[in-house]
Order: sequence, then C-alpha cells, then structure tokens
Amino acid sequence: MAQRETWTSRIGFIFAAVGSAVGLGNIWSFPFQTASNGGAAFLVVYLAAVFLIGFPTMMIEFVIGRRGESNPVAAFKSIGHGEWSFVGGLGVFSSLVTLAFYSVIGGWVLSYIVGSLSGAYFGDPATYFGSVSTGNVAIAAHAVFMAITIGVVAAGVTGGIERATKFMIPAILILLVGLGAWATTLDGAAAGYEYYLSPDFGVIVDNFASIVPPAMGQAFFTLSLGFSVMIAYASYLGRDDSLPADGGAIVVVNTLVALLAGFVVFPLLFATGGVEGAGGGAGTAFIAIAGAFGTLPAGGILGAVFFVVLLFAALSSAISLLEVPVSFVSENYGYGRTTTAVAMGVGIFLLGVPTTFGTSWLNFYNDVVFNLLLPIAVLLLAVFVGWVANTEAIDEIELGSSFGPSFATGWLWWVRIVVPIAVIVTLYLGVDSLYSGIVAGDYF
Ligand code: PHE
Repeated sequence: MAQRETWTSRIGFIFAAVGSAVGLGNIWSFPFQTASNGGAAFLVVYLAAVFLIGFPTMMIEFVIGRRGESNPVAAFKSIGHGEWSFVGGLGVFSSLVTLAFYSVIGGWVLSYIVGSLSGAYFGDPATYFGSVSTGNVAIAAHAVFMAITIGVVAAGVTGGIERATKFMIPAILILLVGLGAWATTLDGAAAGYEYYLSPDFGVIVDNFASIVPPAMGQAFFTLSLGFSVMIAYASYLGRDDSLPADGGAIVVVNTLVALLAGFVVFPLLFATGGVEGAGGGAGTAFIAIAGAFGTLPAGGILGAVFFVVLLFAALSSAISLLEVPVSFVSENYGYGRTTTAVAMGVGIFLLGVPTTFGTSWLNFYNDVVFNLLLPIAVLLLAVFVGWVANTEAIDEIELGSSFGPSFATGWLWWVRIVVPIAVIVTLYLGVDSLYSGIVAGDYF
C-alpha cells in the first residue's frame, strides 16, 4: 500500500482542522440559534459548552486519531480495541448523512452569491428563497457544490485539503473583520450588540432545559466532533505535535469566527427590523439576512462578500466530511483516492436530493444528526477513551505536550465523568424532542 500522507506542517494541520470547524455552523447556524434562544443568554451557555465539553472531547478524537494512524474505523483496531471500530463507523455514517444536506445548503449559498450580484432577491427575499431552496435550481446548485468538494478531496490531503484551507481560512477572517467594521456604522448596531452581548441570567435559569441541548449540539457540531473528522485529521499528525496546544488554537479561532459572525449579523438584523424574523429556522435566517442586505446602500456587493465568506466556510467543512468516508473506503478496500472520492461524492449527492423537496426533509436530516447520532457517538467516544483505552490515551496526550501529567489526569477524569453526564442529559432531551416531532408529524 502507498505511504500515508502527513500534513506538511503543524500549521497546515491547524488550518485544515479550523477549516473543518469553521463552517455554516459558525456563520449561519450560530447567529440564528442565538436569535431563537434568547440572544446573549444562549451565548453564555454555548461558550461554556464549547470550552468545558467541546475542547476535552476534541482531545478524545485527537488521541484516537494520532495513536491509530489510520482511517477512523481501523484506528480502533490499531490501538488494540478492534471491537470498538463501530464507533468510528458511526462517525463515517454521520459524515455521509450530514454532507448530503450540508451540500444542499452550500448550493443555496451559491445561489445567494448570484442573487446578490444580480439583485434578484432585493424586492422579495422570501420568494427568492423559495425558488432557490427547492426543486431543480437547488439540485443543480447542490451538484456544483458537491463537484467542487470532490475535486479538492481527490487532490489529496496536502495538495488538496491543506492548500485549499490555507487560502480560505485567512480570506474568511479578513472579510469577516471587514464586514464587522462596516456593521458598526449601521443604525441597528447598538441594539444588535445589546441583544447579543448583555446576558440576562434570569433567562438562562428559567430556560435551562430548552437552551442546553441546542447549545451542546451546536458546540459539538461547530467543532466537527462526533463525526470521526478530527480522528481522521489527527491521523495525519506527527508525534511531536502538542495535542492540547493545537486543539486549544483550533477551538479559539473557531469561536472567534462565530463571535465575529454575530458582530455582522446582529447589527444587520436590527438595522432592518430586529431578530424576530431570523429565529425561526433554517430558511428564515437566509431570508432575513438577504432581506437586510437588499435594503441597504451597496447591499448587493456587501451581500456578495458575506455569501462568499459563507461559501468558503461551507466548502472547507464539506471537504472534511467527504475525507472521512473516502479515507475509510480507499484504505480499506484499496481503491484509488480519485475513484473513491467521485463514487462516494455521487452517492452522497443522491442522498441529499430528498432534502431539496422541502425544508421539513432538511430539518429531519438535521435533527437526526444533531439530536441522535452526534451525542451517541460522543458518549461512546468518551466511554472508550475514559474507561477502556485510558492508559493509551494518557500516554498519547502527553506525547509532544508541555502541559504535564496533572493536565492529562485532570482531563481523563473530566472525560470519564463530566462529559458523559453532560452528553446523557443532552441526548435524553434531544431524543425526546425528535420523537415528539415525529409523532406530531412535523417532518412528513
Ligand atoms: N463544523 C462544521 C460547521 O460548523 C460542520 C461540520 C461538522 C464539519 C462535522 C465537519 C464535521 O459548519
């Protein structure tokens, strides 16, 4: 078998992992989840979830990945616990399902770049959303988005993924800072910041049960956890890298991008009527944001910039979602990278087509991933690393790290006790809401 590739540098890995983490989750879902869950109150719980649960969970995936040095399924076997391979397999499955609808939304973003330049959504943003989010236009745009993703993954880990993310991540940061600076000049800026940044702790206490599951789900999703992505990416990592230092850098940059997106979106929404319109779910955020751009001076060009940022973010995440099944199939069955990327990409494209029938299908895919697959995977990963492969894990996390043994022990106990409890609570509430949704006929 051919020699496995590795990242050309530590920074190359960080760019790729940040590329995976920074996505639709940060720039689109984070602001609209914040808007649906009480603004700053949600922000506080979300930040706690990212740093207290997300960061330690990222270390779990890094440890498995670097120790295993192979695709996420084989990794468990090479650590000496082949009977846990199904956990890696679950991540591969979740990646497939997620990419199927993620790419459809990526297609919407493409249509919004076109619409910003042509002015097509300025008059009636809701009708425009309807016309691009379903039917043939949506299928065609989904195909284009998927084709770009396939192209990058086929080009390989260093020549494709590393190269593409090294360009896209700085572009995202620079453009978002520019948009944030522009947003300070909007009439709604003060009201937007107020809503976004001054938490009402009473709201958190009163709505704890309804805020925690979306905050936790968002924390895992935005950090690309539970999908075996970080296992796959860490498998291309060298022995002298510090896992906690790299993970910390990734979590911080990812959080900064989400926060910056809020600094663009909230002033924008308050400049044109407040958040009410934006909090209702997947489509409403597109309609509200585009609607705001459509009414502001130079809105078309600024809207195009915003949607280009969103496109880069979505693409760099989509390639990580495709990399997981591609690395598994090509390593396991010995097919070439390009053949595998094309074949799997076409399969995933087809799997995504039903979500162009209507947003309730898309919500179904989304909720199955968020409320069910993702927390189950994280729970299993925490039990595996905390209780089964704990000696190997301690060994691995100390390798290349300057944090010392007490950091490693503290992390292990956190992973053994706190992470599982937090995830079980989330899983219970999430499954309950998925079940009631199905019974109530919300999806079909
Ligand atoms: N983290 C990405 C986002 O925020 C989504 C993603 C999830 C990517 C899981 C890869 C794996 O949009």
